[in-house]
Amino acid sequence: MLRKLRRVILWPLLLVVAWASFDALIWPRLRPIASPELLDHNDLIGQGEYIFNAAGCLGCHTDDDNNGLPLAGGRRIETDLGVFYSPNITADTETGIGNWELRDFIRALRYGIDPKGRYYYPVFPYTSYHQMQTQDMAVIFTYLQGLPSVNQANKAHVLPWYLRLRLVNWAWQKLYFKPGEFQAAPDQNEIWNRGAYLANAIAHCGECHTPRNARGALNAKMFYAGTRNGPDGETIPNITPHKKTGIGNWSADDLHSFLKQGMTPDGDFTGSLMAEVVDNSLQHLTDDDIDALVEYLRYIPAIENQVKKLKKQQDTFEY
Ligand code: HEC
Ligand code: HEC
Repeated sequence: MLRKLRRVILWPLLLVVAWASFDALIWPRLRPIASPELLDHNDLIGQGEYIFNAAGCLGCHTDDDNNGLPLAGGRRIETDLGVFYSPNITADTETGIGNWELRDFIRALRYGIDPKGRYYYPVFPYTSYHQMQTQDMAVIFTYLQGLPSVNQANKAHVLPWYLRLRLVNWAWQKLYFKPGEFQAAPDQNEIWNRGAYLANAIAHCGECHTPRNARGALNAKMFYAGTRNGPDGETIPNITPHKKTGIGNWSADDLHSFLKQGMTPDGDFTGSLMAEVVDNSLQHLTDDDIDALVEYLRYIPAIENQVKKLKKQQDTFEY
């Protein structure tokens, strides 16, 4: 009896434990990371700055509220699961990422894993950046390494005990994360695909505009359909081309002005988090890239999801 039990339960269990330990602890360090050859340095810095801006790295990694220095980290990010503080990503060798090699940087953005093989929390949107082309990761790294370094120690996140061990992120990744570079859709044109790449791999629109489940994973079925429970508790509008509940009534020009200047078709300026997205990233994009975003947004599936309060209805109640 005992022997049978051993054969049926113990050995399979041991195998699973052995596999999980390998996968969680050893594989992250062994996994080969391709890092490209970088040739013309000066050219790369310009390209790096462009992608860096488009990706909005500065906002999250700078503690503006307390006059923090650029990219020195310490910005407070509140979520349902706890409070996170972004780390220092300047080239400081003691407190920043000055000792990192390009492959460490690629591992972080593509796989959400640090140089020691520990797992990042998905508040760091590697969940979008993993789709970035390796070359774009490389130029951001070159650009970052050339910026002034700041010696400022990282602050610890404030999390419930069951989330403190970074190994929970291994399990999270197993459930919700499939790393891989962006693949162009063969049935769409080049402009749409450029827009898809910018929106999903770089500017990470979905990190705010797609609702999440209770464990913080994006709900693909509600892609870009907005939520009342966005970051900082904000209401995030539906930006699918649904006529009634999304932005299906906006013209291409409306959308272009909005993304470039933050102005809505009513002439209001956008506020809060979106104003930051426009200021930090979208306003720096070329008109061609804004047009690509517009083309993309106009041809994604329309999803009915009413998140904004209906202004007209409220008005009628007041009368
Ligand atoms: C939404 C906010 C946000 C944005 C946008 C963001 N980051 Fe981060 N980043 C974080 C947080 C939070 C962490 C810490 C994650 C953790 O501790 O697990 C982090 C971690 C990192 C790390 C790891 C640092 C270390 O010491 O291990 C690097 C590198 C990094 N980010 C680079 C970038 C780059 C490059 C961009 C732009 C392409 C970017 N981040 C955009 C929030 C952000
Ligand atoms: C950090 C979170 C965040 C990110 C990232 C983000 N947005 Fe937004 N977005 C918002 C919020 C919040 C609003 C509502 C702003 C307001 O109420 O003025 C908004 C509003 C909008 C609107 C106006 C919709 C309407 O009905 O008024 C559009 C269009 C839009 N975003 C497109 C985008 C695109 C495209 C991207 C990616 C390039 C993006 N957003 C990235 C948070 C975000």
